[in-house]
Amino acid sequence: MLLDPMIKEIKGKKLKIVLTEGHDPRVLEAASKLLAEDLVVPVLIGDVKVIEDLAKEKGWDISGAEMIDVATYDKFDEMVSTMVELRKGKQTAEECAKLLKQTNYFGTLMVKMGMANGLVGGATYSTADTVRPALQLVKTKPGSKSVSSGLVLYKDDESEKYVCGDCAIAIDPTSDELAELGCELAKTARMFGIDPRVAFLSYSTKGSGKGDAVTKVVEAVKKVDEMNVDFEYDGELQFDAAFVPEVGQLKSPGSKVAGHANVFVFPEIQSGNIGYKMVQRLGKFNALGPILQGLNAPINDLSRGCSTRDVYEMCIVTAAQSI
Ligand SMILES: CC(C)(COP(=O)(O)OP(=O)(O)OC[C@H]1O[C@@H](n2cnc3c(N)ncnc32)[C@H](O)[C@@H]1OP(=O)(O)O)[C@@H](O)C(=O)NCCC(=O)NCCS
Repeated sequence: MLLDPMIKEIKGKKLKIVLTEGHDPRVLEAASKLLAEDLVVPVLIGDVKVIEDLAKEKGWDISGAEMIDVATYDKFDEMVSTMVELRKGKQTAEECAKLLKQTNYFGTLMVKMGMANGLVGGATYSTADTVRPALQLVKTKPGSKSVSSGLVLYKDDESEKYVCGDCAIAIDPTSDELAELGCELAKTARMFGIDPRVAFLSYSTKGSGKGDAVTKVVEAVKKVDEMNVDFEYDGELQFDAAFVPEVGQLKSPGSKVAGHANVFVFPEIQSGNIGYKMVQRLGKFNALGPILQGLNAPINDLSRGCSTRDVYEMCIVTAAQSI
């Protein structure tokens, strides 16, 4: 259900999504499912024979997929030149050639060069190794200063749906970056049918606590005040003030967000990463993401513990982001 609007949007459009780990069984099974449902055209990077043999052995039909082996790709030199140009003196041709032998860099450059609509990776690469090529080659979209990520936390029956971030990319965002993060999370929330009410979280509510970490959040909210945004927001708020109506009313009386927030902006990655995992494990929520925000093309990261379903869902989200 969560992905139904996106599925409707992408079905039959033949959007190409690069999968950097073509021979990973979870990736390959997801690719066959996406093909069977005409949702995307997977571009599988890897040794073609290994991919085909595995698909045959498992009985997965991947006949509609594109497959590219970096080792034998005939326009490899052209890609090296493009990367050298993009890196503007930061990396030599030799360094670029070495990096492009890795499927994460190769796949990302394919997206940058318009050979595919988006990329999903990270079934075996770490988050840093999936995201770094995107930061270096695809860069931020016009109007964005930083790349961040959002997560959707939802119950199986979708009776509750929330968005939070950044739990995965920006380690210690500045107040400017936090303000931008709040705006991007609101957009991500809308992609999932959530009308955003954004809470900028802290250990303080409206001046109850002091310190540099609180000041950063207060400054971020002031920046949003200057941005003329089209969503409700409030901060700084403790989580209980953001989420529990009675506490919100008590600690931030009159606020449209306090007690009713559904989008949570964490002040830095540690609280974000710990917080979402507690909700996921203690609260038995599903977590979809991280969904990258602010990039100039849709590129998304999987957890190395991902399932076939995670790969399938992330490909749908990535294709929808590309439209
Ligand atoms: C994303 C991440 C990998 C970038 O780290 P890095 O590669 O060491 O970063 P660098 O500072 O060397 O920057 C690399 C490039 O990305 C750019 N960059 C880094 N962070 C960026 C951001 N948030 N937005 C936009 N650009 C960014 C830099 O400007 C630099 O560009 P350049 O090479 O053209 O000059 C790092 O922020 C990170 O490790 N984040 C946490 C990942 C993680 O472990 N998550 C938890 C598990 S989900």
